[in-house]
Amino acid sequence: MSVALQLNPLSASLETDLARRLEVVRWFELGEDARAQWLKDRAPEVVAIVAGGHVGGPTQLIQALPHLKIVAINGVGYDKVDLALARSRGVRVTTTPGTLTDDVADLAVGLIISLLRQIPAADAHVRSGAWPSGEQPLARKVTGRRFGILGLGHIGGAIATRLAAFGPVAYASRNRKPVPYEFHADPGVLAVASDVLVVACSANETTRHMVDAGVLDALGPDGWLVNVSRGSVVDEAALVQALETGRIAGAALDVFENEPQVPEALRASPKVVLTPHIASATIETRKAMADLVLANLDAVLRGEEPPTPVI
Ligand code: 8YV
Repeated sequence: MSVALQLNPLSASLETDLARRLEVVRWFELGEDARAQWLKDRAPEVVAIVAGGHVGGPTQLIQALPHLKIVAINGVGYDKVDLALARSRGVRVTTTPGTLTDDVADLAVGLIISLLRQIPAADAHVRSGAWPSGEQPLARKVTGRRFGILGLGHIGGAIATRLAAFGPVAYASRNRKPVPYEFHADPGVLAVASDVLVVACSANETTRHMVDAGVLDALGPDGWLVNVSRGSVVDEAALVQALETGRIAGAALDVFENEPQVPEALRASPKVVLTPHIASATIETRKAMADLVLANLDAVLRGEEPPTPVI
């Protein structure tokens, strides 16, 4: 039976459906030595890699699989797949576009409200029994804020639609788009024009550390940063310093540079709201993603064109 390497935990139903199609090796559960031995013994049997967008397809692993046919991404980000290598090997790379747009946009709005209205701290205030001893400190108003969106693709556009109900929306993108929002070519100029800067762009070499110390200073001491894109788009060390020195007011982060490791300085900060890369993590959306992963896998293994290929 042909083999699929599963690089990270998936929904139970997707794991069950994968196992009905292929022998599945839970690669993320193997140590380095076991992986090396497994590849030495069985690499030619692998036809598929299945992984989340945050994991992708490691270059050395793709190189070690002579009969690999597909890297099926359970997500929309393919920044962690060497497309040039995959293309040179005739390996298809597929994602699940359109399945998680609403969830990610909804979470971005939830993070903004949680951050400015200090909902996690308010919840802890009640749970701790501290309420009888005093009121929760005042928070900050959301409606009327100026919202800047870095990247106006499907997800950025869905965030803009939601935030337009709260206040003026501006965006930075490679190109101006036919939308009713103010356009800025430069992220720093967008940050100056924003109270809340939302990172929603794709992650690649051009966007790596796009939000750096300069952009954070442009956002300013009464500005907030929200990231639902990839941790790599934000210079995390610069963010920590900006938070610690008060050069920005706060941040809400669903993604981090070295997931699942999060710097202690962020975990200890009262100025941040942190979530563990859950933007697409709903039952409904992960089912829709799984269905598309399986459709892509089935098509390629039948020698047919997959429904949502990157390459
Ligand atoms: C995925 C992601 O949903 O879509 C992506 O690229 O990073 C996530 O939102 C996650 O990888 C689950 O597999």
